[in-house]
Amino acid sequence: MNGHAARRNTRIASLRELLPAAVDRRRALIDSGVTEAFRVFSGDVDGLPGVFVDVLGPGAVMIVHEGVAPAAFDAEREAAGALEALSGPSVGLSVRAVYHKPFARDRSRMGGALPSCVTEAAPCAGEALPEFVLVREHAWTLEVRHYDGLSTGLFLDQRENRRWVARWCELFARKHGTPARVLNTFAYTCGFSVAAAKTGAITTSVDVSGRYLDWGKRNFAHNAIDAADHRFAKMDTFEFIAYARRKGLVFDLVVLDPPSFAAGNKKKGVRAWSSVDDYARLVGEAATLLSAGGVILASTNTRELCRPGRLEREIVKGLGRVPRGLKLPEVPADFAGEKERFAARAFAVM
Ligand SMILES: C[S@@+](CC[C@H](N)C(=O)[O-])C[C@H]1O[C@@H](n2cnc3c(N)ncnc32)[C@H](O)[C@@H]1O
Repeated sequence: MNGHAARRNTRIASLRELLPAAVDRRRALIDSGVTEAFRVFSGDVDGLPGVFVDVLGPGAVMIVHEGVAPAAFDAEREAAGALEALSGPSVGLSVRAVYHKPFARDRSRMGGALPSCVTEAAPCAGEALPEFVLVREHAWTLEVRHYDGLSTGLFLDQRENRRWVARWCELFARKHGTPARVLNTFAYTCGFSVAAAKTGAITTSVDVSGRYLDWGKRNFAHNAIDAADHRFAKMDTFEFIAYARRKGLVFDLVVLDPPSFAAGNKKKGVRAWSSVDDYARLVGEAATLLSAGGVILASTNTRELCRPGRLEREIVKGLGRVPRGLKLPEVPADFAGEKERFAARAFAVM
């Protein structure tokens, strides 16, 4: 039998079989009660390449990367098995639905069209969930949507960095007797801003998407924070930095957590973004907005920038010197097997 035929004939283990052990490996986090949203299955680390399962309150999302997941992976059967495993007595989570999120190998070929399974209330297994649900994480509550496209509104891998931001703002206010001014670029649904604002910090959230900023404003409301006391700028990040410089705006903490790529839109003043090409310049320009002693949190999921030492090199290139590094938390326990997919550095520039 050749290797190809052998692979085809090898029975792949199912989520139903693999999930209990994967959940057990994260049991301490799940039982700690710090969050109602966590990853329970991490691809090959947990036994199935290209397949990830996140639990967000009453619903789970099963992320399947086409061309990486085994060819024999049957989404409907696996979703049903996952639901049974997650809600069964040995795992015991209150999950009522599993939604399927298929990621095409080349998403640009999809031409912006999304498969109906990521936009329909009916899940792949279980009962339909409400359009949105609120999940608690640390000291805040965030709105997540299980069938609002390929993402859910919450990047779980940033959980401990959100907490770091909250703590940094608390310490700043205690030390200076004044609230920290926080700039959250590429803010998406404003998770970092909410974490900061919850401690009394004054936040500015920048994103090109008005829809995501509205979601962010709802996240403020879910936490009883008046969004009117905070700034939301529907703008390209570089445009905002230039605007802030003209206006003399100053920030004590700037969060940089951009996507790997984003298409530009000349009419809307949005430049195309590429982390590999633009990260250093972003760091350099963001640093010009910092107060004395101000800090940048720079984060990325871009594969090339996650290589050892690479993000640091971009930071030094952007600043023109080596900054004073600050300690960030470890990658959260539910992502421990995926460490090489994340890089984040915090540093003070002056
Ligand atoms: C990966 S998400 C950022 C995640 C976010 N930092 C968080 O922690 O939840 C990418 C976001 O960047 C926004 N975006 C893309 N290009 C942008 C640009 N040039 N300026 C500002 N925001 C941009 C997108 O609309 C999207 O909300």
